[in-house]
Amino acid sequence: MLEKYVIEGGHPLHGEVAISGAKNAAVAIIPATILAKGPCIIENVPNISDVAIMLKILRDMGASIRMLDKSTVEIDTTMVEHPVVPYELAKHMRASYYFLGALLSRFNHAEVSMPGGCDFGVRPIDQHLKGFKALGAQYSIDHGMIDVQADELIGAQVYLDVVTVGATINIMLAAVYAKGLTIIENAAKEPHIVDLANFLNSMGAEIMGAGTDVIKIRGVRQLYGTTYSIIPDQIEAGTFMIAAAATHGDILVRNIIPKHLESITAKLERIGVTVEDYDDSIRVRANQPLLKSSVKTMPHPGFPTDMQPQITVLLTLAEGTSIVTEGIWDNRFKYVDELRRMGADISVDGKVAVIEGKGHLTGAPVKATDLRAGAAMVIAGLAAEGITEIENIYYIERGYEDFVEKLKGLGACIKKVGAPDLLEQAL
Ligand code: EPZ
Repeated sequence: MLEKYVIEGGHPLHGEVAISGAKNAAVAIIPATILAKGPCIIENVPNISDVAIMLKILRDMGASIRMLDKSTVEIDTTMVEHPVVPYELAKHMRASYYFLGALLSRFNHAEVSMPGGCDFGVRPIDQHLKGFKALGAQYSIDHGMIDVQADELIGAQVYLDVVTVGATINIMLAAVYAKGLTIIENAAKEPHIVDLANFLNSMGAEIMGAGTDVIKIRGVRQLYGTTYSIIPDQIEAGTFMIAAAATHGDILVRNIIPKHLESITAKLERIGVTVEDYDDSIRVRANQPLLKSSVKTMPHPGFPTDMQPQITVLLTLAEGTSIVTEGIWDNRFKYVDELRRMGADISVDGKVAVIEGKGHLTGAPVKATDLRAGAAMVIAGLAAEGITEIENIYYIERGYEDFVEKLKGLGACIKKVGAPDLLEQAL
């Protein structure tokens, strides 16, 4: 079925929305259960397709998976014997490469297909492999599969040439059973890295410094099952904050950690949006004209790259010239062509987008080009005058739980329609 979203713009968002568990923490914590002797109970798991794929991969490898309720899963990986992740599933999802670190730790061997994922530039894994090699492993890449093996994993010092979330996580996973001390320098500091370290420590690991640029992991002999609740998703929260600003709304975003949203809050205030922090919620009100601004995406605690498409849409609604610089990915402006169909005036030169904000957009048929760009097109549709139809919404549903329902709960005029796929019907 060719499903799409149909949005009637012009309705200010109002009311409350509850944020789900963090996708990028869940896709690291779920593979990490391979390291536990005995069952793990993971709470606040977001009901999104990336998580569903991860759980299916574990089940296909022999783990027992039991949903205790909509967002709580019990995972027992005792019966997992073969350190191979099926190509058919892993190829759909970049984060499947976290199985490399977890399987290498437990079996001294791992075979996983080369990562796929969103297409916004080259997505190498050289730093992951550099870390595995430093710990004493050898690797080969044949027929689209990465094969990593080690006689014995020994703690080592690894300096990351580039700040990378994936490599920081994968090396942490590979180091928890390594003999002695592993030090990761120039480590990424995202909230989901701290969440994974806390999860591993709750299983009996000895990880210090997560959230700083030096992480130390002292190898232990065995990790055990635990019960753990995943942190709220800072990017989902930021997406709703910007949707409220784009529609001149007034919403309360609940189940959040204000500290994780500091860079987004600071930028929204610069754009003239009123933001009020509470203990576990944040209020966003936009009742005055949006102001042009400039932003550069950076590793945490800088402005997140996963909020770049969303802030670009917001700045098309501010009068004047704004500049967005992508500091992480080589080619993360592919969605701009879709935005131009809605009247946006943006020129892109490599990693820099210059936005001539006109203060409004008009509805049009557009496509989601990746997960966060798709969410940004929804924001554009909510703010635009008239009807916007968005195709390729499977991208969006990879990372946003109950997105349509949550937006409807805020007064958005949005629905999901399934246009029958003629080819599928013919077959
Ligand atoms: C994670 O991707 C996130 N995905 C991405 O979010 C996010 O954009 C990214 O971190 C940056 O925050 C998950 O957590 C599942 P990186 P990851 O390794 O780990 C270069 C979303 O929308 N690099 O931090 O793949 C790389 O090319 C997704 O939820 C190397 O050079 O990103 C990039 O320029 C999209 N060598 C930079 O580092 C390596 O070995 C950051 O990449 C690895 C990365």
